[in-house]
Amino acid sequence: MNYALLLKQLEQILSSETYLISRMANTSAFIYENMPDLNWVGFYIVKDGVLKVGPFQGKVACSDISFGNGVCGYTWKMGKTTVVDDVHQFEGHIACDSASQSEVVVPIFKNGEMIAELDVDSPCLARFSAQDVEFLEKCASLI
Ligand code: SME
Repeated sequence: MNYALLLKQLEQILSSETYLISRMANTSAFIYENMPDLNWVGFYIVKDGVLKVGPFQGKVACSDISFGNGVCGYTWKMGKTTVVDDVHQFEGHIACDSASQSEVVVPIFKNGEMIAELDVDSPCLARFSAQDVEFLEKCASLI
């Protein structure tokens, strides 16, 4: 994958939009369109003390994930990217789509506080290489 080019394209797409929800919507669509073997790409937003599902591509997902729960809540607790090669081996994984086998969750910070997460699921085991994760972290940082 030419990630440098894809990041330039995403920057271009986002350059004319300042509203966070619209930026998240197009970022999730862009990743879903351009990375093969994904079944869910989207954002969770910290609101009222929980993670609320935000703009996404894929099947209907659970909202209201608590601190420490599932891969998303774990990432919130740890404050850094979580890469899960086999979600069935992750204790407490929340299965929104039974097709999901591997997952990456990237936290998004503003003024030192986590405000949202980028969550990406794949129906393939160990789908995400270090380069893939780096790309997703850069996409999340553009938000
Ligand atoms: N699997 C996540 C829940 C969100 S869905 O993947 C869209 C988790 O365990 O937190």
